[in-house]
Amino acid sequence: MDFKIQAAELKDLRHAEADALLLVVGEGTSPEALGKALGTALTGALKEGDLAYKAGRCLYLHGLPGVKASRVVFAAASGASAKAFRAALVAGLGLLKGGGARHLLVASALPQPVDATQAEVLAGAVGDALYVYRHTKPSAPAVSKLLRVTLACGTAESATVRDGLHRGEAVAAGVALARECANRPGNHCTPSYLADEARRLAKAHDLEIEVLNRKEVEKLGMGCFLAVAQGSEQPLKFIVLQYRGAAKTVAPLVLVGKGITFDTGGISIKPAAEMDEMKFDMGGAASVLGTFRAVAQLKPKVNLVGLIPACENMPSGSAVKPGDVVTSLSGQTVEILNTDAEGRLILCDALTYAERFKPAAVVDIATLTGACVVALGHHRSGMFSPDDALAAELDRAGQAALDPCWRMPLDEEYDEGLKSNFADMGNVGPRAGGAITAAMFLKRYTAKYPWAHLDIAGSAWKSGPAKGATGRPVPLLTQFVLGRAG
Ligand code: BES
Ligand code: MN
Ligand code: ZN
Repeated sequence: MDFKIQAAELKDLRHAEADALLLVVGEGTSPEALGKALGTALTGALKEGDLAYKAGRCLYLHGLPGVKASRVVFAAASGASAKAFRAALVAGLGLLKGGGARHLLVASALPQPVDATQAEVLAGAVGDALYVYRHTKPSAPAVSKLLRVTLACGTAESATVRDGLHRGEAVAAGVALARECANRPGNHCTPSYLADEARRLAKAHDLEIEVLNRKEVEKLGMGCFLAVAQGSEQPLKFIVLQYRGAAKTVAPLVLVGKGITFDTGGISIKPAAEMDEMKFDMGGAASVLGTFRAVAQLKPKVNLVGLIPACENMPSGSAVKPGDVVTSLSGQTVEILNTDAEGRLILCDALTYAERFKPAAVVDIATLTGACVVALGHHRSGMFSPDDALAAELDRAGQAALDPCWRMPLDEEYDEGLKSNFADMGNVGPRAGGAITAAMFLKRYTAKYPWAHLDIAGSAWKSGPAKGATGRPVPLLTQFVLGRAG
């Protein structure tokens, strides 16, 4: 997609060179400022009840006399927030999606001038609307013919608006990469595929990459990761990606992504219904790759490390069994009471591995628990951190990126459930509070650096007719990383 900005006044939009015009309108919009053709149409539509300034309301008009663009969409924003602006764009783009428009001009008739955030939101909304999964369905129709999107803004704000657009484009590319990886089925998106994808990314953007194989992981002593991987015919991969945007002496941020390319549950096998969705269990890994994609394009002055333990969780004659005890890289022993609680097992070894980078902060991202979906549904990701400052930072990043999370507790009382008679800890606690005990398990491996955990089990993909990966939380993570660049 070719994104541009164009200095244009509202009254001149009707003459603008584009075959579709999307106008965001709302309280405070002056129909007169739009010129006669657009102004009269808007006033009439409002008066006759065909449009209202409510979220999601929009109106498509074709061949409006006096307007050069043959398609005009009015999209209502329910307020001045970025979230309301996005909702208007999503609704407006929905009306244009199936049609023939090739060049879309987007303008805001809200009282405040267009800003960088709105530009960023536009690139994200367009990216989301136009993404189509094709890899194993090449017959999927294109959702639109759009080739070019131009955002109208005033001359005074054009520089900051352009920055916002660039940020939005980079994040959208990261989101698209994460969606594509996660949407690919388990027989395509294997641990080896994730490693290849990471290598491609490294090559294209000059990142450092190292991929450890089973022998190397054995030598390191990642007993928990190995235990999960041992039931699968697919070779495990431990991916280490590095982006250097600051001096070597600057402590890096580390992102750790759960890369279970398929989670059957192992010997503690899952029920058949909806098990196909466990191909999305590498959503954390996908979000790390997507964030690297965005960061590599934006080049902030930070150092960033990405760690992805990738394997399948399969039942087989060689699979780990309930009651087996293994030794983690940290030296702590773990009784694997439920082989379906595998995410924390691959993450704990990666979290210990992270120590060698002497990180400024470590954030892990994982489709970790069904319990988190019960707690928060599909809107907010679960966020856990013993560090108030880091928690506040992630909360702000999520809000700013419209990719929200919600802080959950980590009281030591929740640790009780992890006790084992046969090892330093079990890998599961009681059913109640399952998202929290999972986080408490991870916490035992993170004493050496500021740490946060994002449980994205509810936010990484959608079920039902719109089944597919969302690319979250790439926007939150990118915002967080950019924020650290100052
Ligand atoms: N990948 C799942 C978590 C999951 C389940 C995410 C359903 C989204 C929807 C994870 O590996 C898992 O199986 N967790 C178990 C943990 C339990 C055995 C303590 C769960 O949530 O049921
Ligand atoms: Mn599982
Ligand atoms: Zn899992």
